[in-house]
Amino acid sequence: MCLPKQFVDSHQIVKYKFEKVFPSKKNKVMLVYTEDFLGKSNRFVLKYKNRGIQKENNILIKLYRNGFNVPKVYYHNDQMLLMEYLPANTLLETILDFERKSYKVDDERVIKITYNFLAWLDQFYNFTGLTLQDCNLRNFLVSNNDIYGVDFEDCAKGKREEDLARISAFILLYSPEYTDWKVKFSNLFLDTATKEFNLDKDRLIFERSKQVKAIKRRRMKKSKAIINNETQK
Ligand SMILES: Nc1ncnc2c1ncn2[C@@H]1O[C@H](COP(=O)(O)OP(=O)(O)O)[C@@H](O)[C@H]1O
Ligand SMILES: [Mg+2]
Repeated sequence: MCLPKQFVDSHQIVKYKFEKVFPSKKNKVMLVYTEDFLGKSNRFVLKYKNRGIQKENNILIKLYRNGFNVPKVYYHNDQMLLMEYLPANTLLETILDFERKSYKVDDERVIKITYNFLAWLDQFYNFTGLTLQDCNLRNFLVSNNDIYGVDFEDCAKGKREEDLARISAFILLYSPEYTDWKVKFSNLFLDTATKEFNLDKDRLIFERSKQVKAIKRRRMKKSKAIINNETQK
């Protein structure tokens, strides 16, 4: 894969290499190391996909201009986005790390991330009038306890209860699933969301069990497709 000439020229890049491919289920997302003619190095993230780039670009630009914690877009065309690299852990890594280190779910750090995450979501919903739909915790990065959003291609009109229930369902289902810690943290997330967004808790709990089933169905479908693919080889 090559970087587009327009991007290379505008950043006066004389040398570049792809350093890493990020885990991604939908697109090709890569870390690019660059050097300009003065020998100054930089890093960018290239997101390559066949459709939906324009939509994602529009949302990212709008959010960035309005002070949201999202990466700055430097270049886009029909198939790719080149954006600022945020050297941070994903929210998933952060939470799994909390669990590994046996932090109590009412530990100050856990509470802080939960509130910051909900504050980011609240601003996003109020500003865009959209929901994220794809709310897996790899779509958020954590830097100095601040939350950054990176994946907006599935945004659509919807109910925020569904997004919040989806997040709490994902928390339960990351491997290893349903540990004591994950159950407690999923409940903490749901409780805090209920209070912060003034929502009905029973409805969220009901919605979470619906989302758990939906995620499991999707995973099952995917693994069946992989098995079918393998047997056809
Ligand atoms: N600007 C960025 N800075 C650092 N890491 C990023 C950035 N954008 C994406 N990533 C990493 O790449 C992964 C996949 O990106 P994402 O936009 O979620 O792609 P996909 O649509 O394929 O899920 C993210 O989980 C994150 O780890
Ligand atoms: Mg993603």
